[in-house]
Amino acid sequence: MASISVFGLGYVGCVGIACLAKLGHKVVGCDVDFNKVSRVAMGLPTIVERDIDEVMMEGFKAGLISATSSAEEAVLKSEISFLCVGTPNASDGRLDTSFLMSAVKSIANAIRSKSTFHIVVIRSTVPPGTNAAVSELIEKVSGKRDGINFTVVSNPEFLREGMAVSDFLNPPITVIGSRNRRALNKLKEMYSGLGSEVVEVDPKVAEIIKFVNNSYHALKVAFGNEIGAICKKLDIDSHQVMDLFCKDTQLNISPYYFKPGFAYGGSCLPKDLRGLNFLAESNQVEAPILGSIENSNNLHIHRVLERVQQIGVRSVGIVGLTFKAGTDDLRNSAAIRLAEAVLGKGCTLRIYDRYLNIAREKETNLNELNKRIPHLLPLLDKDVESVVSKTSLVIVTVKNPEIPDLIRKYPEIHFLDLVRMKDSAVETLPNYEGFCW
Ligand SMILES: NC(=O)c1ccc[n+]([C@@H]2O[C@H](COP(=O)([O-])OP(=O)(O)OC[C@H]3O[C@@H](n4cnc5c(N)ncnc54)[C@H](O)[C@@H]3O)[C@@H](O)[C@H]2O)c1
Repeated sequence: MASISVFGLGYVGCVGIACLAKLGHKVVGCDVDFNKVSRVAMGLPTIVERDIDEVMMEGFKAGLISATSSAEEAVLKSEISFLCVGTPNASDGRLDTSFLMSAVKSIANAIRSKSTFHIVVIRSTVPPGTNAAVSELIEKVSGKRDGINFTVVSNPEFLREGMAVSDFLNPPITVIGSRNRRALNKLKEMYSGLGSEVVEVDPKVAEIIKFVNNSYHALKVAFGNEIGAICKKLDIDSHQVMDLFCKDTQLNISPYYFKPGFAYGGSCLPKDLRGLNFLAESNQVEAPILGSIENSNNLHIHRVLERVQQIGVRSVGIVGLTFKAGTDDLRNSAAIRLAEAVLGKGCTLRIYDRYLNIAREKETNLNELNKRIPHLLPLLDKDVESVVSKTSLVIVTVKNPEIPDLIRKYPEIHFLDLVRMKDSAVETLPNYEGFCW
């Protein structure tokens, strides 16, 4: 059993108090809103939510729930403080952490007079870097040291209102962002009753994941509605379409395509996206998400080019020219567009593509090669090392097993990886650069 103080008794804090007590922990709530404090002090929830009244009262009757307006009392009564304070949008869109920081200040004041180790858990949704800022503020106010007297953990909340109690007790995953082993172990033990997978990550990863999750959820709703609007005009049942869409768990509802790296291309994605946008436009359906995907993809190719210009070299090598590995298909290849843009900036270029070499050897697709890339054919090399050794910057657009050794062998050559080779030893080398990570 852990003793926990919960700062902020709104939706997240109230559900947190009730559910932490259900897991057998002793919880004290704290809020600047006296009405909320007095409700919790009587075992009553501060929100309307399924199952909350019963779970709260159960914990209260078991003597596990109390509340106070005094931050000092809450901290001194607990070994862990949960921050569940609101972080609303400021007028420019950023999340305003001023309420949270004010709660942190009062916790830090109490830590000053505490002799035992204290763990501060950020449960609120906060911008990346907040964990470090909270730690800094506590050190400044309390005069104590992170890692010695206290530590800060990022542990985002995944509940949905309306399902909050059930979501708290059955989270999809439990994310713990901390570099402090003692705190990681304590939180794992505290959540051991939940049975969900516990994932330990860097605090910044734990901080940004809520932004990513909720933006993706918003995208799903809006994407589904754009598809619905187009289908309606075409007299197609959009629910049947989306049910079918969700049945594909290999490409649609799956990790596939979710790897930050390079732009899409090929014979299908660009073509069919344009085809769907045509259907929308010709049926007077505004579909801004579908209409902006190609633009986003183009911008991404441009970002790579900008990085090449920043690196500021004159001789460039590209490993992988077809639209993806394992094919000689050149249609709509993003790597070709990148190659042309690099040439357009006055750089010299060498290219290695295993599948184009096979195609040339076997004389398959020769007409296509001559038709689509006559200007690039003379730049193709048969050997990846000869491309690497003749350039100052190598852009890797497909996974190639020889590249990690070449990164080690040529420390003076910069490698820009667009596909993440996943070789952690290479990733720490100074001549290696991951493009989106
Ligand atoms: N509501 C959700 O479904 C949900 C889900 C996951 C994460 N979150 C995140 O959790 C955080 C809290 O959200 P919420 O919906 O519970 O907010 P809320 O507005 O319902 O509750 C916030 C509480 O913090 C209190 N508070 C403000 N300053 C304080 C201080 N200095 N000390 C103690 N208490 C203080 C407020 O009085 C209020 O009761 C936000 O960052 C939110 O983004 C919310």
